[in-house]
Amino acid sequence: MASSKSFIKANSQSEISTSSKKLDRLNSLRGSVLSEPLIEDTFGPLSNVRFAVFALGSSAYPNFCAFGKYVDNLLGELGGERLMKLATGDELCGQEQAFRKWAPQIFQVACETFCLDDDDTILEATNRLQSESLTSQNVRFIESQATSLVTGLAKCHSKKVTATPLKKRTNLHGENSAKATLLLEFKSSLAYKPGDHLGVFAMNSPEIVDKIIKRLKGVTDPDVPVELQVLQETQTSNGVIRNWKPHERIPSCSVRELFSRYLDVTTPPTPNLLQHFASIAVDEEEQKKLNLLATDSAAYEDWRHWNFPNLQEVLEEFPSVSPYAPLLVAQLSILQPRFYSISSSPAMHPNEVHLTVAVVVYRTQDNTGPTHYGVCSNYLQDVPIKDDVYVFVRSAPSFYLPSDSTKPIILVGPGTGIAPFRAFWSHRYVQLKQKQKLGKMWLFFGCRTKDMDLYKEEKANMERAGVLERVFLALSREPNIPKTYVQDLISKEGAEIYRLIVMEKGHFYVCGDCTMADNVYQTLKSIIQKYGGMNDNQVLSYMMSLRDENRYHEDIFG
Ligand code: 2AM
Repeated sequence: MASSKSFIKANSQSEISTSSKKLDRLNSLRGSVLSEPLIEDTFGPLSNVRFAVFALGSSAYPNFCAFGKYVDNLLGELGGERLMKLATGDELCGQEQAFRKWAPQIFQVACETFCLDDDDTILEATNRLQSESLTSQNVRFIESQATSLVTGLAKCHSKKVTATPLKKRTNLHGENSAKATLLLEFKSSLAYKPGDHLGVFAMNSPEIVDKIIKRLKGVTDPDVPVELQVLQETQTSNGVIRNWKPHERIPSCSVRELFSRYLDVTTPPTPNLLQHFASIAVDEEEQKKLNLLATDSAAYEDWRHWNFPNLQEVLEEFPSVSPYAPLLVAQLSILQPRFYSISSSPAMHPNEVHLTVAVVVYRTQDNTGPTHYGVCSNYLQDVPIKDDVYVFVRSAPSFYLPSDSTKPIILVGPGTGIAPFRAFWSHRYVQLKQKQKLGKMWLFFGCRTKDMDLYKEEKANMERAGVLERVFLALSREPNIPKTYVQDLISKEGAEIYRLIVMEKGHFYVCGDCTMADNVYQTLKSIIQKYGGMNDNQVLSYMMSLRDENRYHEDIFG
């Protein structure tokens, strides 16, 4: 949030006489949230900007909320005036509660700062911010024309969405394997580069959707298209005017399609939604438990982590709750696209795009509870061949092959971390056929057992063709072999890796989960320190220069 002070100054002209009183009040208000007192004069290009940052992140990643911290710092350094100290919301724990605590605080501080000092107005606005403004009185469905999926998804996500037919699906572990890692080949004329991501719009499990719909009030026929409308009130000189307006993001379609394609029904419901369920629960015991979960964050986090319940399971746990469908649709979060590293090169596979996707299946309650299925990977496992899948390309800002193809590159990608590297070796294979001069390419791959090796034959072919100079396999759970991770093999090759990365100015790529990525980073740092004879500061600054020169590339996930 950032606002120009010029607007405030215009408002403040008549307030000069009361400014010192106001300043005291503001300082006391901000005292609880800002350690330094208000500084009236600030310098720098943003000295006319007042701001407060709420940073979102996940503590599973090494640099928690790094971008928010960076923005907060930068705005301050450029002379902006920080209205509240940086607040953070951790996706793994209490993000929504943290935001709900912060939002009214910053709203109040902003009202004070911008001289909206009518206490009743502030109080009313703060209360409105804290409570949900939607009720069963101000949302409704009306029958309507259906919007196509491409148009609906594009409107809902503000993205250019493309329908791509699925051409072929292969389980890379073998068709009879209990575990599935899929190679999905789509027909597509989308423009992309090796290293880019494909955003995929998933579909919720029809079984879950069906069970949810059966519990809803206000649905006559779940297969008839409806438009979600919200009642808007406008204050005019002639009184309040009320108008029903279509919802800004939710397109017109059947209730079944809304729950299948547009709404997130698998992330555990938020405390706010549970509070709403408490208000409509008929059974007193259920009401009590829902109220506890909605208001006691420790109880909520315990319940959430243990059960990780989807909406259908929550409705099963609280059978006396029958949500009013239009209100529930307006309250649920939007189903977000899932991103996968593209596994093909357009040079090798023109008019195609490939993905490598591990199918996610797990049991909750420490492996004793119900089985849960990852939304998108299971959808991709079930979607019939030739059916359209809705996608868009997202460019990865710094996960590209070096522009100088003679530079050596080292690729580290255990598990599905191998996905973008298949695009890299395919690309280089075509370059080799075109007689381009290529640098050395090494690949470190890791998996549990030999039979889980991915693209074994293709890697061997690339080795034979001279695209991959060396291919390493780290097996972590193969009987009679000591547990080995990719970083163990990287350590063993320290001297040669030092030569390729430091002496020959090569590029290092890591793709996979964040703990592995951190371990690999530390391993490379130790190698460079050892073989370069550097002290702690020297190696730190070398590692920073690797990133600055765009020679250390990461594509990591939690
Ligand atoms: P594990 O599951 O036996 O611990 C792909 O998931 C491979 O990455 C598996 O062999 C897995 O081993 C391994 N892996 C898990 N954590 C890792 C880490 N921190 N660093 C490197 N590899 C890891």
